Amino acid sequence: MTKSIVITGASKGIGRAAAHALAQQGWAVIGVARTAPGSFPGEFISADLADKDETSALAGKLAARGNVLGIVNNVGLAKHETIDTMELGVFTAVMDLNVRPALQLTQALLTGMRSARFGRIINVTSLVTRGFAFRASYAAAKAALESLTRTMALELAGHGITANAVAPGPTETELFRANNPPGSEGEARYLRSVPVRRFAQPEEIASAIAFLASEQAGFITGQTLFVDGGASLGSL
Ligand SMILES: NC(=O)c1ccc[n+]([C@@H]2O[C@H](COP(=O)([O-])OP(=O)(O)OC[C@H]3O[C@@H](n4cnc5c(N)ncnc54)[C@H](OP(=O)(O)O)[C@@H]3O)[C@@H](O)[C@H]2O)c1
Repeated sequence: MTKSIVITGASKGIGRAAAHALAQQGWAVIGVARTAPGSFPGEFISADLADKDETSALAGKLAARGNVLGIVNNVGLAKHETIDTMELGVFTAVMDLNVRPALQLTQALLTGMRSARFGRIINVTSLVTRGFAFRASYAAAKAALESLTRTMALELAGHGITANAVAPGPTETELFRANNPPGSEGEARYLRSVPVRRFAQPEEIASAIAFLASEQAGFITGQTLFVDGGASLGSL
């Protein structure tokens, strides 16, 4: 049986790089996002994961295949905001997209993973869970996803299923560059926070995801792997 792995937010950035890395590792890749990319190293399904019912329908279809033994919960949403002015609607939307599809899709795949006695769950969180100004909703959402990762790890450990988080630091994706153009104050602020003094490339995050998805990583579960150029260690 060919093992399939689903990647959310797979059309760009980290998700797309993960799709390439996992395909190279021999997984049959199923990518999900709203808009299909020009080319993709596997099957691509268009879905809006901000829609609970659409996510549920997708989850049912993936579960019915029986061979989806991996999932990379990568879709995310971040907003710039301050504690004083953050809006409840934004807070709810950010909490929702970062956490709810991960739960819905992963839940749907557990029966198949249990019967295969093998499963890989990788949740993409963020360095911001360590504390980061102007990202209150986003940091809270990613912290929730990290906590969920540990619970998943404990409950599924006896079934050959691992659950881990990959927490990227600032990574040069289209979205990141749109918000932090070269020479901007945003870019300078991020660079100051990274000891290696550069941003990650999406492929560097993808290689950590691919490692945690590998058979060789079977004794690692419930962990958060920071891929952040040392930024989670503190300041220089
Ligand atoms: N880049 C960074 O510096 C950084 C740092 C730490 C953590 N992260 C995390 O890493 C993950 C990937 O980030 P990225 O920078 O690679 O993001 P990105 O370049 O903005 O890509 C986001 C992906 O999610 C899809 N997407 C967005 N909203 C969606 C929705 N409602 N339904 C389905 N798909 C949706 C996008 O495609 P469509 O627009 O076509 O739907 C795209 O494929 C996120 O969870 C992010 O929080 C990123």
